[in-house]
Amino acid sequence: MDSPKELLEKLASKNVLSRDEYLHLIKNRDTISDEAASLARTVCDAIYGKRIYIRGLIEFTNYCRNNCYYCGIRSENKNAQRYRLMPDEIISCADRGYELGFRTFVLQGGEDMYYSDDILAPLVSTIKQRHPDCALTLSVGERSRDSYKRLKEAGADRYLLRHETINNTHYGMLHPKEMSRENRMRCLDDLKGLGYQTGAGFMVSSPGQTEEDLADELLFLKNFRPQMVGIGPFIPHKDTPFADRDSGSAEMTLFLLSLIRLTLPDVLLPATTALATVDPLGREKGIASGANVLMPNLSPTGVREKYLLYDNKICMGEEAAQCIECLKTRVAKTGYEIVTDRGDHIGQKRL
Ligand code: 5AD
Ligand code: FES
Repeated sequence: MDSPKELLEKLASKNVLSRDEYLHLIKNRDTISDEAASLARTVCDAIYGKRIYIRGLIEFTNYCRNNCYYCGIRSENKNAQRYRLMPDEIISCADRGYELGFRTFVLQGGEDMYYSDDILAPLVSTIKQRHPDCALTLSVGERSRDSYKRLKEAGADRYLLRHETINNTHYGMLHPKEMSRENRMRCLDDLKGLGYQTGAGFMVSSPGQTEEDLADELLFLKNFRPQMVGIGPFIPHKDTPFADRDSGSAEMTLFLLSLIRLTLPDVLLPATTALATVDPLGREKGIASGANVLMPNLSPTGVREKYLLYDNKICMGEEAAQCIECLKTRVAKTGYEIVTDRGDHIGQKRL
């Protein structure tokens, strides 16, 4: 086996390693995380420059039919105060976001069947008509291929659906038996096949995750080639079966961001809110480790504290305008710049 340093150089030049090699890097992360970050940053700068893309996140419903063991808005959590934003409220959020310089909106919610295709498709087309220079991303969970097709035809450009774990047994530890890794993968294949810029991803150090699983995640990502990858540390939520589990660390998350950047050089990679929740400088460090996307919250402040997937989430009181100013300052300090741009995946041909 090559030394960790040699393995990193091999990854930077070949963009893939074997499972054992990824595992060796993960086990030795303490010794080479700085080098991994600097290689990842060089690769990202060569493709996307000093530009950081922002996505306006609109968390429009916290109703969810699922009961994932890690998630604060799981259906069995009777303490969650449920809310739904109506289409006109969602449109206002997007309009406000446009004024603030956002050119991508992410409509994210629990799996809330109130938002049938008959409601979502016209909403998507209205937002696209009002803002033809914007990209629209959906993040509303598992749906049928027909539904994904209709939403794509209505104008949706991208879809985020984390696969959560590639390991079937681990999937079963995180989810009730009604849910399956198989269906999640079916959804991801459908989305990619329909031409969405597709985002997969997983939580770092979710209960039961091993270092071997992380090596498998990197191989899966290499193979699936998503345009976007969302990862963040697992953080316990008090009203879930995992309330007493430990959070994932910023260090492990940052190291994986670097390995993902080196594996998929042109991937769109956010420094997530969960990362900034476990480390106040998470976003800055995320960028320094190879991330190139930030996803601040555009939801009305009145509902924000109800969309709690985990405890201690940041930016609960801040208006969108305050967050964007805060982020601009933070990013500028790192030598990067937030841009007003759709921020498409580089391999994506615009129609
Ligand atoms: N900690 C960190 N991330 C979480 N998510 C859900 N619950 C938690 C938690 N407790 C992530 C999942 C989901 C995304 C929207 O948020 O990966 O796909
Ligand atoms: Fe929200 Fe800093 S990003 S206050």
